[in-house]
Amino acid sequence: MKITLIGFMGSGKSSIGKSLSQKLNLPFIEMDDQVLKRSGRNNINEIFNTDGELRFRELEIEIAKKLKEIKNAIITTGGGIVMNKIIIDFLKSNGRNIIVFLDTEFETIKNRLKNNYDRPLFSNMKEAKIIFDVRQPLYRIFADIVIKTDNKSVENISQEVIKRLGNL
Ligand code: S3P
Repeated sequence: MKITLIGFMGSGKSSIGKSLSQKLNLPFIEMDDQVLKRSGRNNINEIFNTDGELRFRELEIEIAKKLKEIKNAIITTGGGIVMNKIIIDFLKSNGRNIIVFLDTEFETIKNRLKNNYDRPLFSNMKEAKIIFDVRQPLYRIFADIVIKTDNKSVENISQEVIKRLGNL
């Protein structure tokens, strides 16, 4: 089984992904980690500042293409993958891949990311909110399952995902 978590920065993709990978006994793959490894940089800010966002997006496409081959995994994505439909196409192209959107209010995200400094697109709140509004409908369009995450624990959310998988 392949499950891909999508959603804005700070929607909990990594925490939920880890929890699901343990509960479902599936390998855990973080696209951001893979992108970072391939970039040869030390962190995501460095990729954006030195190579530019476009290079970052190119690397995301390359990684998504590679992940096509994988049949069993929990995959977490960067919040920007919905801006390149080719990434979604790659992720969906080889067998069944269930896309789960972790739907989170902007206020919740702001609280969660208060002390985070490795998100180049979350430094200016006004711009971040614009990006958020542009992407919200896209996450929804690409998702097989939508889960609201505000005021819920990681445990609750991952149990809800598993329950919804059973209903598909
Ligand atoms: C981005 C989200 C980040 C990371 C990069 C760009 C985005 O991942 O891929 O900073 O465009 O929303 P997270 O969603 O895991 O924070």
